[in-house]
Amino acid sequence: MKSSHGFLKRIFKPELIMEVERDLCEFIKSEKILSNYYSQINKNVPSVEKLLEDNIKELVSELVNTKNYHLCNIEFHIQIPNCAPIPPHQDNFYHCVGYSEGVKLLVPTNSLHANNGGLIYLDIPYDYPILDHVPSNVPNFSSIIHNDIFKSLEINTKSYDYKTGDASYHYLNSIHFSKGNKTNKLSSFLVFRFEAKKITKDLSAIRKYEECFNKHQRRLFS
Ligand SMILES: [Fe+2]
Repeated sequence: MKSSHGFLKRIFKPELIMEVERDLCEFIKSEKILSNYYSQINKNVPSVEKLLEDNIKELVSELVNTKNYHLCNIEFHIQIPNCAPIPPHQDNFYHCVGYSEGVKLLVPTNSLHANNGGLIYLDIPYDYPILDHVPSNVPNFSSIIHNDIFKSLEINTKSYDYKTGDASYHYLNSIHFSKGNKTNKLSSFLVFRFEAKKITKDLSAIRKYEECFNKHQRRLFS
């Protein structure tokens, strides 16, 4: 059975990553209030799209098992020193598609490891079921696996030590989290989300997610 995550050593040209990193740093400097998450960062920093070279497109089509896929989003995650950890979650709790129909590429823009905000993955297969999620108090992470459920899983974890040009992928049912950034230097990574063009949306799962999201919003803003 395929794993829900994997490491991609030197999949990107380091000089291309460094070029994109410069543009992202300029963007960070221009922000008056820095968020921990930017959706569609390519609208502000178009050069991130340069990373989608032919080898990456081929890799994605292998991962989703079709050439008929599209790019849904390019997210930018920023973890400042001592930021809150990313709570354990499964992305498919909110995307609500088949376990093999989408994949995410995590591309660090600096050296990244478990101590400066790198994701930590549970060693589970890519078709692992979606667990119940509860609303969270962490901005931009609406739904999380309840701590009691997470602790009861007792599954081995894996994190990667990324150098410039390295990346990783995870399928949408992967369970992952971060410990936050325990260093005194900001860390950041891009996440490219791809989805097959033919997908099966689970409508009852969408309703469950919307309920959780609304509760999360009410908690943060009321
Ligand atoms: Fe995630």
